[in-house]
Amino acid sequence: MYMGKKVLKIGQISDPHIGEDSGLVQGIDVRKNFLTAYQSESMKDLDLLVLSGDLANEHAEPGAYSYISDVLKDCKVPVCIIPGNHDDLSVMEKFFDLRGKVHDGKCFYRYDIAGHSIFFLDSADGTVSSEQLSWLEEEASRINDEVLLFIHHPPCLCNHNFMDSKYSMKNIAEVQATLSRIKNIRHIFVGHYHFEKDVQLGDKTVHVTPATQMQIDANQSDFYLQSIKPAWRVIEWGENFVKTQVYFS
Ligand SMILES: [Fe+2]
Repeated sequence: MYMGKKVLKIGQISDPHIGEDSGLVQGIDVRKNFLTAYQSESMKDLDLLVLSGDLANEHAEPGAYSYISDVLKDCKVPVCIIPGNHDDLSVMEKFFDLRGKVHDGKCFYRYDIAGHSIFFLDSADGTVSSEQLSWLEEEASRINDEVLLFIHHPPCLCNHNFMDSKYSMKNIAEVQATLSRIKNIRHIFVGHYHFEKDVQLGDKTVHVTPATQMQIDANQSDFYLQSIKPAWRVIEWGENFVKTQVYFS
């Protein structure tokens, strides 16, 4: 009897913004926040862990990557990583195994696990390059089943006054045009905005995952710290459903 695909449990940690050393980052113990997410009860029994960018606080601090890779040494499941705008692949590559995932200086790839396919794109420079978009469209069309997509930047505005006006993705129209043609992507998981939101984009839902570093008030047009509590996301993906929940500590 066909039992369907295994239900995959995916944990997403976004925007830890770890500093070069163990000192506080803007008054926040970001390393403790990262550990709170990573060690949370809700993150037990994962099949896959995703780190969706801004691992380093400002400028790809090597100490940030060495800290994270050290913590993840005992991680029993695969870890998929994409860079954010504060990361630099040439530094990350020294601490994480990105072999086969970096093409022309961009980290984008497909990861297959238990009969499911997941796509990862690189928006570190604020755009998703047309090379990546062509690759995504072509590669996703080879798969009949639904696939998931992870990007650091939301491919849409999110009704966040500060982030929308200052740090939104720069080629939203181009990215949305491609995405609208890819029917087997229904759920897109992102970070970057330091708040929680689900945004409907045609037939797709963009799930904005809050940061482990801190959350930013969406109602203010200037930077306004809303909370220094870490948050993270858990996704359960079965044959005919995607269930997801954000946890705040
Ligand atoms: Fe970011």
